[in-house]
Amino acid sequence: MKSYSGRYPSARPRRLRQNNWIRRLTRETQLSADDLIWAMVVHDGDEDEVPVAAMPGTARYSVRAAAAAAKRAEKLGIPAIAVFPHIDGRKKDASGKEALNPDGLVCTAVRAMKDAAPGVGLMVDVALDPFTDHGHDGLLKDGRIANDETIKVLVEQAIVQTRAGAEIVAPSDMMDGRVGAIRAGLDAAGFEDTLIMSYAAKYASAFYGPYREAIGSGKLGSGASANPGDKRTYQMDYGNTDEALREVAMDVAEGADMLLVKPGIAYLDIVTRVKDAFGLPTYAFQVSGEYAMIKAAAANGWIDEERIVLETLTAFKRAGADGIVTYFAPNAAELLG
Ligand code: PBG
Repeated sequence: MKSYSGRYPSARPRRLRQNNWIRRLTRETQLSADDLIWAMVVHDGDEDEVPVAAMPGTARYSVRAAAAAAKRAEKLGIPAIAVFPHIDGRKKDASGKEALNPDGLVCTAVRAMKDAAPGVGLMVDVALDPFTDHGHDGLLKDGRIANDETIKVLVEQAIVQTRAGAEIVAPSDMMDGRVGAIRAGLDAAGFEDTLIMSYAAKYASAFYGPYREAIGSGKLGSGASANPGDKRTYQMDYGNTDEALREVAMDVAEGADMLLVKPGIAYLDIVTRVKDAFGLPTYAFQVSGEYAMIKAAAANGWIDEERIVLETLTAFKRAGADGIVTYFAPNAAELLG
């Protein structure tokens, strides 16, 4: 154990807390705008901001508004933005083929944002759920999510997104073997510098609820006669931690540059284990449900939003995260400003 404490009364830990300057001087974990990845939803309509009811204070941005937001990120010192698309329902089908459209919403938004703020890194999800009418991250065959067929589409999706200007591709689909396939596909297409942030340890979670509204995700369990009503055959069981390390080990072996643990606040133990075991740049995702919970309690006057935001984000770092994907990024950056 590296910490040492003496005995009272010669030792008085409160000496180190007696005022602000000494607390600042001895603080172990510092949060800064450099730690933030702004989670942002875009849509292909004209309206600049379409509010998301379950996530007050966020909105689906038009491409134009997303470009302006990218400039704002640059001013606030936020290094990167993670873009999530709300796809027009008419463009969705069982194959999710809109994911491969080089002139689709994701690619259009990425180009506009890159153009507006070249110095801000852009990250995009690799997964099919925004594009499928059944709402799953992969292809549905006879009521099952078909792993290897899905991977082929994900590789194409990652290449299309990279061509548009995305610098980090983030497979969030939880298919087995997709990181290696995406790495090989990117390399073969000449994109050996594209970063892969693997959603390596992603749990099947009720914390994603508001996100489904935000991106207008297809309703799981509906439509197709054999449409599983949840994602538990591919996302992880929240009772497990060793499984997370096995998932991460595979993704590292397959070429992941950065790792993501998701959801966030209820999974800090996973962040710590992953960071300790692998030492790769490791991120936590403060997901939609976490955002909604903080907003709802704050709206009722039950908690202090600003203090909770900084406290939770600092907790991720203290647990070992190198950064946090969060819808609160602009708010936090302003508070830290
Ligand atoms: C889907 C994806 C999800 C989120 C990011 N990518 C939802 C899911 O896996 O069901 C959740 C984000 C959030 O809740 O903020 N590939």
